[in-house]
Amino acid sequence: CFTCSYFTWFYLCLLVLSVLFFSCTAPWYGNLKIKNFASSQPGAGPEPGDVVSAFTVSTLGGTFSYLPGALNGSLVIHAFTNKSGFLESLWSSESSLTSLVDGLPDSTQVLFLSLDDSAVSDVLWMREQLQRVAMRRKEVLAQLHFSPVPVFALGNWIPSVFYYWGCVGHNCGLSQAVFTCDGCKMPIVIKRLDARYDWLVARWSSSSYQLVDVGDGCDLSPSVAGSVAWVSEVNCSFFNKVQNMAQSNAAGVLVYSLPGNPIQDMNCVGDECNYPLNIPAAMVHEEVWVTLALRSGQLVNVSFQTTPSPNFFIGIDQQGTLAEMGWFLYPAFNFINWQAQWFEFVAGLKTKLQSPAKVVSVFDKITMQGEKGAVATVDLPLDLWDFDTLQLDLSLSCPSRRDSSCAQWDHTVQLFLCCDELSSFCNTELGRWITAFRRGIGRWLTDVSPLLPLLNRNRCTFTLKTVPWAMPWIASLSLRFSISNQTDGARKLHPFRVMPLFSGGTFDKSYNKRYWPTKLPIPKSSKKVELYAVITGHGSDENGCGEFCVTSHHFLINSIYNNTLTFDSAGTALGCTMRVKDGAVPNEHGTWLYGRGGWCDGLQVDPWRVDITKQLDLSESESNTVVYFGLFDGMDPDPAQQPGYIIMSSFLIFYK
Ligand SMILES: *[C@@H]1O[C@H](CO)[C@@H](O)[C@H](O)[C@H]1NC(C)=O
Ligand SMILES: *[C@@H]1O[C@H](CO)[C@@H](O)[C@H](O)[C@H]1NC(C)=O
Ligand SMILES: *[C@@H]1O[C@H](CO)[C@@H](O)[C@H](O)[C@H]1NC(C)=O
Ligand SMILES: *[C@@H]1O[C@H](CO)[C@@H](O)[C@H](O)[C@H]1NC(C)=O
Ligand SMILES: *[C@@H]1O[C@H](CO)[C@@H](O)[C@H](O)[C@H]1NC(C)=O
Ligand SMILES: *[C@@H]1O[C@H](CO)[C@@H](O)[C@H](O)[C@H]1NC(C)=O
Repeated sequence: CFTCSYFTWFYLCLLVLSVLFFSCTAPWYGNLKIKNFASSQPGAGPEPGDVVSAFTVSTLGGTFSYLPGALNGSLVIHAFTNKSGFLESLWSSESSLTSLVDGLPDSTQVLFLSLDDSAVSDVLWMREQLQRVAMRRKEVLAQLHFSPVPVFALGNWIPSVFYYWGCVGHNCGLSQAVFTCDGCKMPIVIKRLDARYDWLVARWSSSSYQLVDVGDGCDLSPSVAGSVAWVSEVNCSFFNKVQNMAQSNAAGVLVYSLPGNPIQDMNCVGDECNYPLNIPAAMVHEEVWVTLALRSGQLVNVSFQTTPSPNFFIGIDQQGTLAEMGWFLYPAFNFINWQAQWFEFVAGLKTKLQSPAKVVSVFDKITMQGEKGAVATVDLPLDLWDFDTLQLDLSLSCPSRRDSSCAQWDHTVQLFLCCDELSSFCNTELGRWITAFRRGIGRWLTDVSPLLPLLNRNRCTFTLKTVPWAMPWIASLSLRFSISNQTDGARKLHPFRVMPLFSGGTFDKSYNKRYWPTKLPIPKSSKKVELYAVITGHGSDENGCGEFCVTSHHFLINSIYNNTLTFDSAGTALGCTMRVKDGAVPNEHGTWLYGRGGWCDGLQVDPWRVDITKQLDLSESESNTVVYFGLFDGMDPDPAQQPGYIIMSSFLIFYK
């Protein structure tokens, strides 16, 4: 196969390529023919969930052999191409390289390949980059394998996956800047890397813009109004450049690197991030012809395009099945680490699901959508007193096996229970989750044992819902009843009564005015009393409350005991990446990485449980009280605009 060099003969090359296309593609698709993928339809390609075949490839040090399931760990395969500004930055940035060396789970192997004719020099360079930063943790190098055989020459199933899972956008595909001028024979096309998605939200339009040279962009330049600024990387921060150009009414900014310098991930630092800037920006290499043409007064136009490419990443989990790696929102190897941590989580989850339990299936791949959500009435043919543990096993997947079919946005999902329509407990919340933004891999076990007494009927109706305007999710839910291991040989106490306490509401200055001290009638036979609360903060006032601000929630017992839950990680840059080990779905679209008020995208909301037996006077059943209040920054909330809200279910659980 033949690949275009970017800078010269672009159109001629395109022509040659399009002629070659069919002869090039035929072998990829020819290879697919179900030989390797038993579950695929003829003609279709490999899909996530297919079991892969064994393979062996030559590497710089010898060979790498893969046998599904034999690794006792996951495998990530990465295909590099220097036609991608994103990949160039991924492999040049010191912090990105360091993150792989420091954070790759021990159970994960990585196979590095190149898509291009330059595979030998590419992987030699890649190995050198990692060896340099691996000085202090050399053992990681044993997990990294570099093959000098280009992807198109591998002759196994790997090329078919990379090409069939080809992509565009989200740092996959080839983002490019296209320069044209009157009298120029051919456009010049170069790779670009757009500024960090969550710093500069504005995107390039499909228009053609005039390009204006403004030197270093460290001062205002009125001449750039309505045009794209051509700016050198020197003399001031990316933020200063973009801010100056925005104030000069530029339509966008192209920052070029000094000769020999790599393309970098343009981002804001510290307080800079608090200033919203509304123009797009990207980094490129300097195209000397462009600078010279502009300085000689020639009109140069620039436009922006993204050309589809093979995928850059494939995952294979512990069991040897194919998996997508999700979106890499910025050039950092952390995204490999997070997906690998998640493979470990799933392997652990599958082990947990082997433990003995009475399993009652509620939903089996049912569509959850609209006002109704997913509803099922099931028989519970069991004696609750035989069990002390109830876990909810929920998975949310998508209409197809690809993440691209998954619903956007992160929405709250709630499971409501009704075992007796006349009871005040009908429609009590049994579980809460947040959907994973455009990823269909989430599966979570949530321990809701204290709520066992609510299932004291033979037949109960379960309703799983999110907002009615959300795209559909395919939900599966099982109830897992089991007996916990008794460490001391004593019979564990059983929950026998649930008493509802407080619910949340709008998080404004009257939030706490609605809560009054409540008397706690304690059932006579109680041996233990537990506080159980599921609390999440949502919405965004001027302080980011309740999703991105630190709120605290207090249950004051008998005016003395202050039981406090604080959402410390809300608003932190990487708060939810810390929860990937616990099952938070990694590499989602959007800002899944940020810490939030009691929740993460693609994760269950864990109930908060406190044993408060010692805080109560169990002999005086009428004398105990509880009151709740919620604070922002240690004080009553007092938002100036658009108050957020708190969703809360809280109960006292009595055990005997
Ligand atoms: C597989 O890996 C897990 C966790 O990394 C470890 O506990 C287990 O002992 C390993 N099993 C084998 C057979 O190596
Ligand atoms: C990648 O391309 C850039 C210019 O586009 C060049 O400076 C750099 O040396 C290339 N890297 C490799 C590994 O070929
Ligand atoms: C160049 O860009 C200007 C807008 O800045 C546009 O009006 C013009 O049509 C473009 N020229 C070409 C040849 O695309
Ligand atoms: C960077 O600043 C120096 C000193 O002010 C100046 O001479 C130089 O021209 C600047 N570089 C660019 C590309 O404007
Ligand atoms: C209880 O202990 C047994 C044997 O030690 C173990 O196999 C089982 O997984 C444990 N069950 C739970 C729920 O921890
Ligand atoms: C409970 O604790 C919080 C923070 O620790 C504090 O702000 C609040 O005043 C305390 N309330 C009482 C009644 O002690």
